[in-house]
Amino acid sequence: MGKLLEVNNLSISFTQYVQGLNRHDLKVISDLSIDIDESEIVAVLGSSGSGKSLLAHTILGILPYNAHVTGDVNFKGQILDQEKKEKIRGKEICLIPQSVNFLDPLMKVSQQAVGECKDDNERKEKEKRQREVFAKYGLDESVDDLYPFELSGGMARKVLLSTALLNDPDLLIADEPTPGLDAKSVEETIQDIRSLKEHGKGVLLITHEIDVALRTADRIAIFYSGYVIEINKVENFLNSENLLHPYTKALVDALPKNGFKLTEGVQPLEDVPGCPYYENCPIRLDKCQNNKPELIEHDGIMIRCFNFKETGSEEVVSEETGSEDVVSEEVVSEETGSEDVVSEEDNNEEEINDEA
Ligand SMILES: Nc1ncnc2c1ncn2[C@@H]1O[C@H](COP(=O)(O)OP(=O)(O)O)[C@@H](O)[C@H]1O
Ligand code: SF4
Ligand SMILES: [Mg+2]
Repeated sequence: MGKLLEVNNLSISFTQYVQGLNRHDLKVISDLSIDIDESEIVAVLGSSGSGKSLLAHTILGILPYNAHVTGDVNFKGQILDQEKKEKIRGKEICLIPQSVNFLDPLMKVSQQAVGECKDDNERKEKEKRQREVFAKYGLDESVDDLYPFELSGGMARKVLLSTALLNDPDLLIADEPTPGLDAKSVEETIQDIRSLKEHGKGVLLITHEIDVALRTADRIAIFYSGYVIEINKVENFLNSENLLHPYTKALVDALPKNGFKLTEGVQPLEDVPGCPYYENCPIRLDKCQNNKPELIEHDGIMIRCFNFKETGSEEVVSEETGSEDVVSEEVVSEETGSEDVVSEEDNNEEEINDEA
């Protein structure tokens, strides 16, 4: 069976007008591919403003009108056009939004969870289900008649979660469900999301908190400057040696338990001609400056880097993209002879070049 969700080569840009008339395209997401299986939680981890919510909004078909989009979204093997997205939104695919502001402040929470109904029979059925789902998440009957402003942070989160689950969706998108919550509510949220997986749901967990991703997900996709640069199994994040991309390694090394070896530098806001991590990369090659690495599969891990290190070995795997493009043979000599390789691999005589 195919994947529950597949997003292929998604790019999103916005047209901006600088100083009145100069048109400028701001690319926010570039060539993003990601997939989720049934009973799988995939976290998308990226800093604020890196395009995580835009990914969620693309899947749901609620992007702002000025967004230019290429690529496609497949759900249960079918490409979703706008019409199909609207049809399954709130049913087969549901969103747990980031904030209580997504709730209508003028409507009781039970009413908005039930939503529009075509007749009394449907209303009765939905109200019954709403009560069951609310009760399952510890919301007693007194909550039904509350307005959003009357909810505590923890209750609001449970209302958002219950509302999203009311129609028993197959895919849940949780957009930053934990910021602002106390430790106990964060723990409950993680448990709630994990329990969805046990009920066969696929979950796309969007977060900028690595700790939450590590404790919740099966796989983690790392966003960097609008690109997915690595998708790896959560267990490989326990030791940066098991990770492939230098940014992902640095991210994990910077965890408090690993002694905060922080990387310097900022993510480029504008798209660059080569690898987006070039300026900050300790193992960059000459070719990285003007050639873009593609996202390729290596032993079940997705990686976007010309010069990643094989896990558990000292050897550098210099993989090309598999397509005919980009890196010619002259690059090979650059790699082996280059002074631009700034890394522990500098003295490594065992570099493997696929082209050799
Ligand atoms: N309607 C819009 N017009 C122009 N730029 C936008 C619009 N919506 C989002 N963006 C840009 O896209 C970037 C990514 O937004 P978003 O997906 O909300 O980031 P994240 O969820 O990762 O914090 C923002 O920093 C902003 O620059
Ligand atoms: S080695 Fe090159 S391709 Fe890999 S992250 Fe560094 S700059 Fe990018
Ligand atoms: Mg967001």
